[in-house]
Amino acid sequence: MKKVILDCDPGHDDAFAIMLAARHLEVLGITGIGGNCVIENVARNALKILELIGRPDIPVFKGHSRPLAVELVTAPQFHGKSGLDGPELPEPRTPVQNKHGVDFIVDTLRAVGDVTLIATGPLTNIAAALNKAPDIVPRIREIVIMGGSVSFGNWTPAAEFNIFVDPEAAYRVFNSPVHVKMCGLNLTRQCLIGPAEAERIRRIPTRTASVAAELLDFYMEACRKLIGSDGADLHDACAAAWVIDPGLIKGAAMRITVELRGEFTRGMTVCDYRHLRGEDPLRDIYHEAGTAPRGGEPNAEAGMELDRGRFLSLLYDTLAGYP
Ligand code: BDR
Ligand code: CA
Repeated sequence: MKKVILDCDPGHDDAFAIMLAARHLEVLGITGIGGNCVIENVARNALKILELIGRPDIPVFKGHSRPLAVELVTAPQFHGKSGLDGPELPEPRTPVQNKHGVDFIVDTLRAVGDVTLIATGPLTNIAAALNKAPDIVPRIREIVIMGGSVSFGNWTPAAEFNIFVDPEAAYRVFNSPVHVKMCGLNLTRQCLIGPAEAERIRRIPTRTASVAAELLDFYMEACRKLIGSDGADLHDACAAAWVIDPGLIKGAAMRITVELRGEFTRGMTVCDYRHLRGEDPLRDIYHEAGTAPRGGEPNAEAGMELDRGRFLSLLYDTLAGYP
C-alpha cells in the first residue's frame, strides 16, 4: 500500500477523500488546514469521519489555522456552518494529537520517506513544511493536490478556492523541486454526482453509505442554490482516487505556476499547455528575449480526463466495504 499523508479541510468532498484514502492507502496521518471552515471544525470533522468508518487509529493533527500572509476565507456557502453540515454525527471521542500538523509532516518524512502528500485544502501546511525543512524534498514521492484549474475558476472567474485562499503557499509548492499532480476543476467537474448516484449510494446497506448520501444531499442542494448545478463535484475525492488508481485519470505534463498579483486573476493557476496544440512547450516568446526565467520544462502533471465509471465503482465499493 502506498504511504500517504492527507492534508485537508473537511468539507464534504474532503470527507469522501478521507473515506477513499483510509481504505486503499496507508494513511500515516491527517493534517488539518483552515479552509472550508476554521481549524477546530476541520479537525473535529476529520475525527467524526474516521470514527464513522471505524478508523480512529489514524491520527489527526491541527496544522495552520490560516494562510501565512493573508486572512482566511472560508466556504460556509457550500459546506455549512460546521464545515460538514447535513448528517448528525456524534462528537468524536478520539482526541486531536498535540503535535502541530507541519511538524508531523516534517518528522514523518524524515523518518519514513517515499510518502505521497495528498492535499485537498489550501496549501499552507505543505508550503510551511517545505520552508521549514527543505531536506524533506527527496523523501516526498509526489504531491497530489485538488486545486487550481487548466480552465476557469470557481471562487473567482480565474481562481479555484484552495489556491485562491493561499496563493503564496500554492506558488511555493508549484515552484518547489517536488513533482506536483494537479487535480483541477477542469478534471473534477467530470465527476459530477447527481441525484441518481446519490440514490445508488443510499441503497448501499452500510451506515457509512447512509451518511455519505446525507452529506451529498446537503452538498448537492448547496451547489444547486449557488451555482445552479444538478449535482455536486466530489473534487477532493478525485485527488485521492488518482493516487489509489493512477490509470483512472489521464494527465498531461505542463508548466504550472500561480498568479499572485493580478487584480482579477490572483490565485489563478497559469498553465502552459500550448504543446497540447502542437506548439513548443518550452518557448516563452515574450520572456525569451529578457532575463526573466519563465516558461520552461513541465513541473507538473495536470489531470485532464477522468474515467468516471471507474471512479464511481471505486466510490461505491469503498462505501460498501465500511461498517
Ligand atoms: C475545493 O474547495 C473546497 O470547498 C472543496 O473542499 C475543494 O477542496 C473546490 O474548489
Ligand atoms: Ca477541500
